[in-house]
Amino acid sequence: MILRYGIKLVTVTKSNPENVGTKVSLGGVRGGPDVKTLRKDIWWLPQVASGIGLALFVIYATWTAFRNGNYYDGAHGRDYLSPFYSPCLASNCTYKTASVLGTWWKLSPALPILIFPAGFRATCYYYRKAYYKSYWLSPPACGVAEPHKTYSGETKLPLILNNIHRYFWYFAVVFAIILTWDAVAAFRFGNSVGMGLGTLVFIVNAALIWLYTLSCHACRHLCGGHVDQFSKAKIRHWFWKKVSVLNPHHMLFAWLSLVWIGVTDFYVYLVASGTIHDPRFF
Ligand code: FES
Repeated sequence: MILRYGIKLVTVTKSNPENVGTKVSLGGVRGGPDVKTLRKDIWWLPQVASGIGLALFVIYATWTAFRNGNYYDGAHGRDYLSPFYSPCLASNCTYKTASVLGTWWKLSPALPILIFPAGFRATCYYYRKAYYKSYWLSPPACGVAEPHKTYSGETKLPLILNNIHRYFWYFAVVFAIILTWDAVAAFRFGNSVGMGLGTLVFIVNAALIWLYTLSCHACRHLCGGHVDQFSKAKIRHWFWKKVSVLNPHHMLFAWLSLVWIGVTDFYVYLVASGTIHDPRFF
């Protein structure tokens, strides 16, 4: 009998006393049960749901990145800058964080900065799992046969690029700091300090971005990886223990922060376009 990954199962019989236990040998053809899966649960539901969720976000993000308008509300005494446009680095920004790009950039100022958060998310271990299962069907789910005949993993272009995730993490920290600053700036109401519903939206956004960034697997490895004895690396051990509490919830933070970035941007769009009024608490 040939099992998956070319493992051959040798049947143990009483007539062959030398066979003690189950022996396996490598090298057979890749096999498996003759049915696609033996699972009886609705294993496809998470894949369909996450596939639809990711597609909806990509559609929304594309619209907002090319919208190039109503991404900053400064006209109503607020200081709300959409996270899709922060930091605003082109001279054509309605609100400039810094004129790093100069005047030659004529397209939407969201486009040059979105490379970093988009790269961070696209190479994230959780999102990789999600789109490999939902779109590539590789595999569709645990214990479900995949339709592909060959498998090269992440050893070839373009998927080998996913290995640069750890470097995107450093940029992600910079963006988390910038979005935290935007949340602080959302307390600014003209020349006074106040708090509106938008301020709350920005605070939640910054908190979720930090939870997502710090629960990253690369962050956990950065804290505790390559340490042979934690007793000799007490500070790294302390950080490793803290992020290890967050790490099991990484998928949750990935979704919450993704959805809330969209919520924050849409809120700014509604306020900046005058569609809704931002209620002020104090
Ligand atoms: S593993 Fe998801 S952000 Fe690093």
